[in-house]
Amino acid sequence: MSTTVEPTPVTTDEPEPASRLFGAIAIFESAEKLLSAATALKQSGLTKLEAHTPYPVHGIDEALRIAPTRLPWVVLAGALIGAGGAFAMQHWMNGIDYPFLISGKPLMSIPSSIPVTFEVAILLAAFAAFFGVLLFNGLPRLAHPLFRTQVFRRVTSDQFALVAESDDPRFDELRFGVITTEHGATSVESIEQDVSSVAMPTLLKAAGVSLVALALIPPVLIAQARATTSEKPRIHPIQDMDFQAKFKAQTTSPFFDDGRAMRLQISGTVARGDMPIDPAISTGYTSDAPPGPESSQWLDSIPISPTIELMARGRERFNIFCAACHGRGGDGDGIVTVRALELQQGTWVKPISLHDRSVRDQPDGRLFNTITNGVRKMPGYASQIKPEDRWAIVLYLRALQSSRNAQPADVPADVLETLRETN
Ligand code: HEC
Repeated sequence: MSTTVEPTPVTTDEPEPASRLFGAIAIFESAEKLLSAATALKQSGLTKLEAHTPYPVHGIDEALRIAPTRLPWVVLAGALIGAGGAFAMQHWMNGIDYPFLISGKPLMSIPSSIPVTFEVAILLAAFAAFFGVLLFNGLPRLAHPLFRTQVFRRVTSDQFALVAESDDPRFDELRFGVITTEHGATSVESIEQDVSSVAMPTLLKAAGVSLVALALIPPVLIAQARATTSEKPRIHPIQDMDFQAKFKAQTTSPFFDDGRAMRLQISGTVARGDMPIDPAISTGYTSDAPPGPESSQWLDSIPISPTIELMARGRERFNIFCAACHGRGGDGDGIVTVRALELQQGTWVKPISLHDRSVRDQPDGRLFNTITNGVRKMPGYASQIKPEDRWAIVLYLRALQSSRNAQPADVPADVLETLRETN
């Protein structure tokens, strides 16, 4: 057991660096001895006392009277700031800065904000934990006086050390030596701290300055590119499948004899489901081209049998394809029309009421043709509605019209008898 008070010998020829006392270290062979020494030192009033052990030792926190760490509070603060910030950010962006109504959902909604709120809370909590640990431990630290002592080296394998720091007002090297030796310290040494300030090598300085200068080049290039225009195509680092060897529609190609990239349909073939039916059924007229409005070549009545199923189908199709503009009752008050008139952009034509005499008097074939090819401002629906469904719509349209303009003659005689005149 020795009570060395000399600093660790310096084995270079350089002038000895300026140093001052950092504290003292006592080495023990067992954890029990360290614990009892620590308890005794604490009782003597030392506050700046640290234990270094090769493995976690139970009871050391109590012996050194280490207060529970404040880190959880820092982490909690990080999480709360993250959650609050993310929540406020989303509400500000979605509700105030750029309100964008999606399917009538509320602009500021708690459920939709939860994922981001949660993630940012976790992120800031993790940052708080990571940087809090560094901060509380005074890290990063490039050197520590303890590493200059030889005895400290075995602390990571089989020795236990107690270190008292000299800036503790109750620090007394001699008393530290006495108490620790009483509790079984095998050696006690004082620790010197190097306080000479060494200038940074010029090479390092130069390297630092040039690195900073180099780091400025990319942002300068980006700033320049943002402010100027260029004839050259953009740099396209991630190509995905943007450039493929393929033919685009309506382009030429030397591959085929006729020089077109697109192929014509093979003559005499019929696409699946496109088998031609009676031209009158698919057009609504008997001439070669759509006849004039007053022509007698329009089919007068529906060329397929008007069943109750066809009527139901027609009603369903009408409500899907026509009601948006014409309204379910055919009055020309569909939701699209209402909205278009509200917007007042001047290009919308309010559809005429389908109960208007001019529509009621049209032959069925002409109504069919209106659905097929459209009329004036109304688009054609041939590509979306099959001919049979178009006839179904005409059938339903007739029913709609009768619902407003029925005459006694339209009612079966036996039912007519049961009707009474009101008004
Ligand atoms: C996008 C809105 C829109 C839809 C959908 C629409 N129409 Fe029209 N329709 C119009 C407008 C607008 C007019 C009036 C056109 C004009 O006068 O320029 C019109 C006119 C008509 C007329 C009167 C034609 C005439 O000779 O005066 C009929 C009949 C008609 N539509 C039937 C239908 C049926 C049946 C459907 C469903 C398959 C349908 N429309 C779907 C907008 C629509």
